[in-house]
Amino acid sequence: MRWTILFCLLNVCSCYKVLLVFPFPFKSHSILGRGFVRNLLSAGHEVTYVTPFALNSSHPKLYQVSLNLSSTHFEKYLDIKPLLERAEPMNYWDVFGLMRGVTEMAAKDIYSGFSALYDCPFIWFFPYDQYLEIFRVMHTPPNPAYTPNLRTRNIPPFTFQQRVQELWYSITTLFYRTYYYTPVEKGIYKNFFASAMSKRGKKLPDYDAVRFNASLAFSNAYVTMRDVSETPTALKNIGGFHIDTKLESLSQKLQDIMDRSTHGVILFSMGTHLTSRGLPKLVSEFVETFRRLKYTVLWKTNEANLTLPSNVIPLQWIPQVSVLDHPNCVLFITHGGLMSITESVHFGKPIVGIPAYSDQFINVRIAVKNGFAKEVKLSLDLGNELFDAINEVVNNPRYTQRAKEMSLIYHSRIAKPGAELVHWVQHVIETKGAQHLRSAALQMPLYQKCYLDLIIIVIILLTILRYIARRTFERLTRKTNGIKKTN
Ligand SMILES: *[C@@H]1O[C@H](CO)[C@@H](O)[C@H](O)[C@H]1NC(C)=O
Ligand SMILES: *[C@@H]1O[C@H](CO)[C@@H](O)[C@H](O)[C@H]1NC(C)=O
Ligand SMILES: *[C@@H]1O[C@H](CO)[C@@H](O)[C@H](O)[C@H]1NC(C)=O
Ligand SMILES: *[C@@H]1O[C@H](CO)[C@@H](O)[C@H](O)[C@H]1NC(C)=O
Repeated sequence: MRWTILFCLLNVCSCYKVLLVFPFPFKSHSILGRGFVRNLLSAGHEVTYVTPFALNSSHPKLYQVSLNLSSTHFEKYLDIKPLLERAEPMNYWDVFGLMRGVTEMAAKDIYSGFSALYDCPFIWFFPYDQYLEIFRVMHTPPNPAYTPNLRTRNIPPFTFQQRVQELWYSITTLFYRTYYYTPVEKGIYKNFFASAMSKRGKKLPDYDAVRFNASLAFSNAYVTMRDVSETPTALKNIGGFHIDTKLESLSQKLQDIMDRSTHGVILFSMGTHLTSRGLPKLVSEFVETFRRLKYTVLWKTNEANLTLPSNVIPLQWIPQVSVLDHPNCVLFITHGGLMSITESVHFGKPIVGIPAYSDQFINVRIAVKNGFAKEVKLSLDLGNELFDAINEVVNNPRYTQRAKEMSLIYHSRIAKPGAELVHWVQHVIETKGAQHLRSAALQMPLYQKCYLDLIIIVIILLTILRYIARRTFERLTRKTNGIKKTN
C-alpha cells in the first residue's frame, strides 16, 4: 500500500507542478491525500491529484483526476463479524490475501513508471510504517532480529521464538515479492507503459531501474509512534502532517456538550471502515458498558435504531481532532489506526485501543509500551475488560501524564510535519532528484551485502591450506616410516 508522488519540473518562479497519485480506494487514506494537497497548495505549488475521492474544491491551482474505484474488494476484510468468528486471531498469512488484493488493484511499484514517462523524479509515500517494504525500496531489507513489522505484531526486544518468526516472515515476504508479485508487475508495466513511452519517442527503461529509483520516501509515522532505530537518509517521517494547523470549530451543540460535561468526555471511534454490521451482541455490549460510566461518550457510529443511555451521544460524523483538542476530553477509545494514534499523541490524550486488523495491533502495542494506552481484545464479551480499562486509564494519572510527555516529544521538532513535507518535495525538485540521498545498498546484489563472496574465498583458501597441510603431513610420515624401515 504505497502511493507515488511525482514531480514535474517547471522552472518558472518557485512554483512547481506536482502530480499526486493516490489511487487507493480507502476513505481514511484519502485524508492523507488531502494532507498532501493542502500543504502543497498553501506553499503555492500547482497540484494534479489522482484519487477516487475528489475534493470539493475550486482552488485555481488544483486539477483533479477522479478514479472510479470502489473498496468493495476489501470490505469483506473490514467487517468485525468475520474477524470475531475466527477461532484464531488473524495471523499474517491471512493478510497476505489482503496484500495480494491490494497488489491487483494498486500494484504498488508499478506507479514508478510515471516518473520515466514524464521524466521527473518521484517520491514514495507509506501510509503505514512497513519497515520491510520501505527499506526494501529505499535501502536494503532491515535486520529482522530487532525490526517490528505490522504482520507479526511482535514488539522488540524479541524472544528467541519471535526472532525466528520475524526471520521467517522476512524471507517468505521477500520470496513472494521476487517470484510472485514482481513478474506480474513487470508484465503490467510493459503493457501499460511501453506504448505510452513509444508515443513520446522514448524507450521503456528496465523495470528495476525505475522502481528502485525513488528520490525520497515519506512515512506517516514519527518517533513517538514507531519502534525502530534505523532510518535510511532518504526516508522522512512526517507523521502528523494530515492534521490541519487550523482546527475546524465544533458545532454549537457539540461545543455545549463538551463544555458542560462534568466528569469528562470520552471519544469512541472505530475508524471509517470498521462496521459492526450483523453484530447486535457487540453493539449492546458497548452500550451496556457505557451505561455504567459517569463520563459522557461521543460515539461515532452509523447504527440506526440505538436505544442509548443519556450519557452516550451517537454521531455519524465527529470532528475528531477538534474533540481531542478540547480540555474536557479525557480519553480516546480507538481501533488504533496510525492516524488516530497520531492524533491522540498530538493532543496528549491517553488511549484505550481495541485493534481489529492490519497495523492496528502493533500501533496499540507500541502505545502500551510507551505507557499512555491499554489494549482491550476485540470479542463479543469485552464489556468488563473495557469497563476496567476505561476506569484505569482515566483515573490513574500516569496515563495522561505519559500522553502529555509523548506529546511534548512529538511537538519538539525543528519544523512542523507539513512544512517538512513541503521542504523535502522542493528539495527533490531543486536538486533534480536528490541523488545524494540515495543508499549505496540499492545497487548491490545480495551476495555482496552478505559477504558471500568473501566467505567463499575464505572457504577455498581453508580447503587449499588443509590440502597442503595434509600432503605435507603425509609426506613427512612416509619419510619417517621409510627411515624407520631402513633402520
Ligand atoms: C461543494 O461545495 C459547494 C460550495 O461550497 C457546496 O454548495 C456543495 O454542497 C458542496 N458539495 C459537496 C458534495 O459537498
Ligand atoms: C463506475 O464503475 C461501475 C462499475 O465498474 C459502473 O457501474 C459505474 O457506472 C461507474 N461510474 C462512473 C461514474 O463511471
Ligand atoms: C532516476 O532518477 C534520476 C533523477 O530523477 C533520473 O535522472 C534518471 O533518469 C532516473 N532513471 C530512470 C531509469 O528512470
Ligand atoms: C428501527 O426500528 C423500527 C421499530 O423498532 C423498525 O421498524 C425499523 O425497521 C428499524 N430500522 C432499522 C434500520 O433497523
